[in-house]
Amino acid sequence: MRSAPNDVIAFHSGYPDRELLPERLVRAALARASRGDAALSRPPAAGVPELQSWFAHELRTATPAGFAPPTPSDVVVVPGSQSGLSSVFRALAGGSQPVLMESPTYWGAILAASHAGADVVPVPSGPDGPDPVELARAFEETGARLFYAQPNYANPTGAQWSHQRGEEVLEIVRRHGAFLIEDDWAHDFGISTSAVPLAAREDSGHVIYLRSLTKSVSPAIRVAAVIVRGPARDRILTDRGAESMYVSGVMQAAALDTVTQPGWQTHLRALRHQLQSRRDLLAASLRQHAPQVHVAHVPHGGLNLWARLPDGTEVDRFVRECESAGVIIAAGSEWFPAEPAGPFVRLNYAGPNPGAFEEGARVLGSILGDRPNAR
Ligand SMILES: Cc1ncc(COP(=O)(O)O)c(C=O)c1O
Repeated sequence: MRSAPNDVIAFHSGYPDRELLPERLVRAALARASRGDAALSRPPAAGVPELQSWFAHELRTATPAGFAPPTPSDVVVVPGSQSGLSSVFRALAGGSQPVLMESPTYWGAILAASHAGADVVPVPSGPDGPDPVELARAFEETGARLFYAQPNYANPTGAQWSHQRGEEVLEIVRRHGAFLIEDDWAHDFGISTSAVPLAAREDSGHVIYLRSLTKSVSPAIRVAAVIVRGPARDRILTDRGAESMYVSGVMQAAALDTVTQPGWQTHLRALRHQLQSRRDLLAASLRQHAPQVHVAHVPHGGLNLWARLPDGTEVDRFVRECESAGVIIAAGSEWFPAEPAGPFVRLNYAGPNPGAFEEGARVLGSILGDRPNAR
């Protein structure tokens, strides 16, 4: 992750700015954790039982009648979902096995799977999620047993799958005896909708669910969960043991304390409004000052706008020119497992200083100059 000097306009970060974090709750939680048993003891490998219960309970509240709810023992606490993803891929996809991924998708998942030795196979995905026909074909052609996806507010596109699309994908995954690795990275970042985990609607062990608190509680409290029903859980836990044995109990206690305070819900409600005004401000600034930058889908949640530049734009050069002019953006190519589908950039609206968004858009517009609109 790159840091940015104070005088630049930063649209590149993946993590929300400090003013969007529950700072008072986090400081109080850390102070309490430092005074409690957690400061001097070693927690169980799968996590502090009360935190396992909290994660299971959260998913249980989304579970419709007729489905078996997850239990605390299905939960493995991990130090951030990046680490969880690495474990999942190492445990289930090592040795050149194919792993299907939406394209574009989170670069960290591409990296983790590649490092585990897996062979990443892209499946095109748009604002409604992957095309079920393409997904089924990819399973058939590759014999893959894993599909990594983000059904809610995907990074980078912001896509949220409909109920129907989720059902279609689950049906395909079950039919191929495979796992859906559901990365619910933006669970707390709903704006005009809320995140609905697919894992709540699948109780036969075909979904491996990742739920992170890193971005919404604090990047310094690096706690997430992998929730799996069935034998895959033991393989993932074995990998956790090999990797790091356990997650600091102080961090787990502080995370649990933060999300169980009444102030947490108040914070999430305020966050929804803050993200909405930041998202709308950036989208409006682009429309007004950089009409060459096309945002096809304004997302219902998440932290990013996924924008297409005019055809023929050399993205890396554009990114460098923006940086020289004091605006840092992320080249879209990082999010494609194979060839980029076009000249894209990702613009994060949760970074510092939204007062500078308009100026940032002006810079993008003037660098693109009189190139035709990307519509
Ligand atoms: C889609 C997605 N998954 C996982 C992660 C990693 O999250 P964590 O901070 O919990 O490791 C990120 C971070 O940017 C992300 O965007």
